[in-house]
Amino acid sequence: MKIEQVAVIGGGAMGNGIAHVLAKYGVSVVLVEANSDALAKARSTIEKNLAREVSKAKLTDADAAAALARIKPAVDVSAAAGCQLAIEAIPERLELKVPLFQKLDALLGPEAILASNTSSISITELAASTRRADRFIGMHFMNPVPVMKLVEVICGLATSEPTKTAVRELALRLEKTPVEVQDYPGFISNRVLLPMLNEAIFCVMEGVATPEAIDEIMKLGMAHPMGPLTLADFIGLDVCLNIMEVLHKGLGDDKYRPCPLLRQMVAAGRLGRKSGQGFYRY
Ligand code: NAI
Repeated sequence: MKIEQVAVIGGGAMGNGIAHVLAKYGVSVVLVEANSDALAKARSTIEKNLAREVSKAKLTDADAAAALARIKPAVDVSAAAGCQLAIEAIPERLELKVPLFQKLDALLGPEAILASNTSSISITELAASTRRADRFIGMHFMNPVPVMKLVEVICGLATSEPTKTAVRELALRLEKTPVEVQDYPGFISNRVLLPMLNEAIFCVMEGVATPEAIDEIMKLGMAHPMGPLTLADFIGLDVCLNIMEVLHKGLGDDKYRPCPLLRQMVAAGRLGRKSGQGFYRY
């Protein structure tokens, strides 16, 4: 199945980027947000990001305008009816995602695929809340979506081969690299990354080195583009804590226990870049 019409539900940090790349590569998009203010914000972010590509000569003015014209804004999810794929990018809360997928399941045609951009919720569990677990899959884009090449494709227990193929082909059309993984807590990206960030936070807590020193060591010594504490601040310390808790609970191994300092920073409201203070001040 060649996917030509996609609904993106949620136009925040991830959803606006997903809508941007789909539209840029010729796919018609229905972008659904919770209200008209959020929709206007998503649209202006997409417009600004497309304009940046024009200023870098990566896109012509006409192509940017055509991309923007391919995005139909909506505040009611029923606008997604008729789409061949819906990609959900609403906040990371099971109690919000399940009712949304049940609505989409009732609304979309029988052949349509449902995908979630979740970073930590089980794809198998989300799929089981619908009547199309075989046409349910994880499409985990990376932030910022227009820049990052990876799409981690997460296969639930029941995800069918044609579903995997359709999603893989779409990712390739967007000039992304799809990499398939199975549905276990944290998938691969977060299961490997977050324990490293958590360990860096243990090092701060134990006074092994300052955040600046730890970041410098990992940048210069391991060729990481960003130090682990800078990255944790960028991701959001609340998001980091949530993912560590998912790993700890889901895999049942104490090696995934969240660092007490991470808990303390979140309790204090020091969430990183978005709150103005984390391991660094912004
Ligand atoms: P965000 O908070 O920036 O955006 C979520 C958007 O969804 C908001 O604009 C909100 O108004 C909208 N929304 C809420 N309920 C809705 C509904 N019922 N219908 C339509 N829109 C609704 O969140 P963000 O960061 O974009 O994350 C979205 C998903 O992507 C989460 O599952 C997150 O775990 C995942 N993710 C986030 C990454 C990141 O770096 N921010 C990276 C990879 C995945």
